[in-house]
Amino acid sequence: MHLIPAHQNRPSDDPIFALHKEATARRARGEAVVDATVGALMDEDGALSVLPTAAKAVRDVPSTVGARNAPSVGAPAFLRGVIHDLVPGAPELRGAAVAAATPGGTGALRLAIANFLEPGQSLLTSSWYWGPYQTLGEEADRKLETFDMFAHGAHGVGGLDVGALDAALARQLRSQKRALVFLNDPCQNPTGYSMTEDEWRAVVQCLLARAADGPVTLLVDCAYYLYGSHDPRAFLVHLRPLLGNVAVLFAWSASKSFTHYGLRVGALVACVADADERRRVEAALSYSCRGTWSNGNRGGMAAVTRLLADPELARACDGERAELKGLLKARVDAFNRLARPRGLDYPRYDGGFFVTVFHERPLAKAAAMREEGVFVVPQARGQGSGALRVALCSVAERDVRRLVDALCD
Ligand SMILES: Cc1ncc(COP(=O)(O)O)c(C=O)c1O
Repeated sequence: MHLIPAHQNRPSDDPIFALHKEATARRARGEAVVDATVGALMDEDGALSVLPTAAKAVRDVPSTVGARNAPSVGAPAFLRGVIHDLVPGAPELRGAAVAAATPGGTGALRLAIANFLEPGQSLLTSSWYWGPYQTLGEEADRKLETFDMFAHGAHGVGGLDVGALDAALARQLRSQKRALVFLNDPCQNPTGYSMTEDEWRAVVQCLLARAADGPVTLLVDCAYYLYGSHDPRAFLVHLRPLLGNVAVLFAWSASKSFTHYGLRVGALVACVADADERRRVEAALSYSCRGTWSNGNRGGMAAVTRLLADPELARACDGERAELKGLLKARVDAFNRLARPRGLDYPRYDGGFFVTVFHERPLAKAAAMREEGVFVVPQARGQGSGALRVALCSVAERDVRRLVDALCD
């Protein structure tokens, strides 16, 4: 065997893709299938929703621009555009920000893990999390630990359990002397949960209190931030006190914001108060880019730069995205209207691509639903017994009733 022992039993097939493949094949044979597995926004006819203005900007990239290499750290105008997009109204954060272009938000997560944790250490995230966090950690010889995401009260699932985060953070700082915390907000994948501003304030207090015990880095994975039901940047003011105490990272992605998942355009933005440390962070990120993918998709960066910087194009994208959000909102409202009265157990859900319904036997339940032609993704890990991830982003509004019926049966 030539593979190194640790890599000899890597799972080759993505389980979500395998489910989607089966759903697609059964639909092609004429079956009325509801496929709630795909994490991309589909229109009511099941076709991928694409912002026309973004598609045109990609087509319009001159070949002499797209064919060239970008600098390893990314094209300067693109990096400026991303920083401005994220923190336009927070001059303290903007003044402390440096960025590196990455292949999607995934690349940003990879850079964070490789530069803010020692090999063998664990990142800390909520007990419900996007599966590739674990994969990214393993690929970089890091591990993953979780805190129980939700407090459970007398009336079922409650809000974010900041006490559980605090206890886990304290434990980690004792054992590994540094911490990297991933929070995916708003519209968390897979639960659909969006933190309240009070929860953000509480998280910031917790991080500040623990930062005395070792270097603490917060990474906000904002892959879905333009799809929440509130001002996507409102939480930023609460992060300001972290500057100078906690390093603040953002994993920014054009995949969902501009409906170009395959363009692989993203960035890691790092807000670091100290100028010398900031320069070192920027150099480390640039070095990591060089040593991982050399440089990013220059044509993609050029297109996204125009979408961010040209006011007319930015407005057009906002309008087109608002239509897609409306589509999604109708599905979310239909789900809440039908599912809440029937007692399905799921967190507060007011927007976003996914929702997670807690279930004691997720594998058996998902298999039974599949028999009926309704596809959801079983989640065996997480808090308690398990859950089913429901991608409303890919389910037509007219199918939400059948989906809820299948979840309740
Ligand atoms: C929670 C979360 N973070 C990050 C990403 C990164 O996406 P991409 O690499 O396509 O930008 C995704 C994509 O599904 C996601 O669900």
